[in-house]
Amino acid sequence: MRRFLLSCVGALALTLSAQTLLPLPQSMRELSKKTFVLSPDLSPTVADGAPMATPLLCEALRVATPRAPKGVCLILPYPDAPNDEAYKLRITPDSLLVYAKTSGGVTCAAATLLQLRTEKGRLPCVEVEDAPAYAWRGVMLDVSRHFFPLSHLKRQIDILARHKMNTLHLHLTDAAGWRMEIKRYPRLTGKAAWRTKASWKEWWNGDRGYRCEGDSAAYGGYYTQEELRDLVAYAHARNINIVPEIEMPGHSEEVLAAYPELSCTHDPKGAADFCPGNVGTYDFLENILLEVMEVFPSQYIHVGGDEAGKAAWKDCPLCQQKAKELGLDHVNALQGHLIRHMNTFLARHGRTLVGWDEVMADTLEPGTHIMNWRSTELAREAAARNLKVILTPGAYCYLDYYQDAPPFQPEAIGGYLPLEQVYRFVSMEELNTEERKAVCGVQGNLWAEYIPTVAHAEYMLYPRALALAEIGWNGESREAFPDFRKRAAAVCDLLRSEGTNTFDLYTEIGLRKEYLTPISHKALGATVVYNLPFSPYYPAAGASTLTDGLRGGWTHSDQRWQGFIGGKRFDVTIDLEEVQTVRSVATGFMHAPGAEIYVPSAYILLTSEDGKNFTEVSRQTFDGTDETTCQTYIWKGKIRTRYLRIQAPPAAKGGWVFADEVVVK
Ligand code: ACM
Ligand code: ZN
Repeated sequence: MRRFLLSCVGALALTLSAQTLLPLPQSMRELSKKTFVLSPDLSPTVADGAPMATPLLCEALRVATPRAPKGVCLILPYPDAPNDEAYKLRITPDSLLVYAKTSGGVTCAAATLLQLRTEKGRLPCVEVEDAPAYAWRGVMLDVSRHFFPLSHLKRQIDILARHKMNTLHLHLTDAAGWRMEIKRYPRLTGKAAWRTKASWKEWWNGDRGYRCEGDSAAYGGYYTQEELRDLVAYAHARNINIVPEIEMPGHSEEVLAAYPELSCTHDPKGAADFCPGNVGTYDFLENILLEVMEVFPSQYIHVGGDEAGKAAWKDCPLCQQKAKELGLDHVNALQGHLIRHMNTFLARHGRTLVGWDEVMADTLEPGTHIMNWRSTELAREAAARNLKVILTPGAYCYLDYYQDAPPFQPEAIGGYLPLEQVYRFVSMEELNTEERKAVCGVQGNLWAEYIPTVAHAEYMLYPRALALAEIGWNGESREAFPDFRKRAAAVCDLLRSEGTNTFDLYTEIGLRKEYLTPISHKALGATVVYNLPFSPYYPAAGASTLTDGLRGGWTHSDQRWQGFIGGKRFDVTIDLEEVQTVRSVATGFMHAPGAEIYVPSAYILLTSEDGKNFTEVSRQTFDGTDETTCQTYIWKGKIRTRYLRIQAPPAAKGGWVFADEVVVK
């Protein structure tokens, strides 16, 4: 039913010559071919019991063309709205009626009006009935890895609100810099907010040092509480809730450089995790959360919880003592203990804890929100445990991945997530009806390790965040991608005309051409003996991967690339089943430095007729590259052989080796 209505809306939108509808409303019906004429003097009248006008509604009604108002605008109550952000519009030549239950509904209605408005300031006479599929429609911005000014955050709030998103999650703390003023702990902004290098990559691969505020060579910054209060109010007026994230117990190098007594080692360098055996840790984090709650009225407070290494805990007397007192089997279980402690603390203050899916290590209050960034299995577990889930799986929602062919894109962390893949979001499909009830929304995450400027952040956000806006509002949808793509391109045109730096869909290269076409060669289907094993984490198609005729795409996680880690990495023998003439042996390798994947340092070919005695035919060495790309290492010549042994030792930096196919001709 919903799908039918959406396709009607799409067709109608084209006949209206209006701005682009994105997300599409649930239903829209044309009332007449006439229009409602906007005028600079039009101001909405608010009926009893209806919510007030919001900044987005005022923006939608504002036109520059001087003309007398011809019709009225009324905001009316919508008592039987299916949810808080639902709205209805009824537009005739004489009246523009907005029905809403809350100011959120008014803002969502205004977003539609802005998109319906023609350049000449006219609205088509239509009736719209609309409501979101999900309550949480979010984007996460990482302001730690690179610090972005408030003007950038406000601009993103404007764009998100115009597309009916309602949550901005701020990743305020991480090793690369603490970004919120905390009055009780001044060293968090006096030191932990400032680092030695502007580029995260150079800093992370360099000294990972911190500097003091005011030091002329320091890079960083933070938001004062006053600035954040102003930002919260700005966002609130646009139906955007700001969810602050304070990381714990891991990703906390910057805090532990400023307050080393809170790590297990007390060493200001190198500690990433708080000491969960130290009562001081709990006091410190609670005091911070108290200030966070004063500034952010959000029901939801994010405590991170992801990727704690925990290495120092096992050698720490305080951690051992605490684990013993609590009757825990292992010090690692202190992660769950610390999160549960904060869960109770936040609940006592009337707030709800949100955490990355690692926070499920211990029991949690019912209703705690889990951000599911890893497997859908964890979303299922959260649902079974009476928790709420925000779907943000890496494979669809990590907006820091490349959005087009990596060799032609600014350096990114790795991966490949084009617009179409975001739009084809399928996590819900993997959940049963009961499990789906636990899902409260979707979110895109813009981690900023490789995103040093605001222009670059916008480039990574748009149009992909628009796909999440559409999914968040309308639910998962797969068939209508060509229509969505056209609308997204039109929104990007508009954003660019306003000075926002979006990715240009018109120049998209798309999937790697080698990925699209299976190839035939002499080793197709040949048995491969792994003299060194492939990693169980990246098996691709297992033992047939390297001779199945299928080349890899732009990401190592597409099940075509096989990963090797440890020891000498890559060493395989291919049996051609009979002695034959071989003129070339080529192997595809991936190079994605952001993901610690490097092309090998050498390519060694050995041959044998009996599979026992091998002769080295060739040894080539390579310097590597800085670009994210796929490279083919190739030997050419003429030999007769049955067995081919290929060795490809790792780059000097170590890391992973990923190969897709050994092509023998
Ligand atoms: C995450 O990507 N570490 C949540
Ligand atoms: Zn400890």
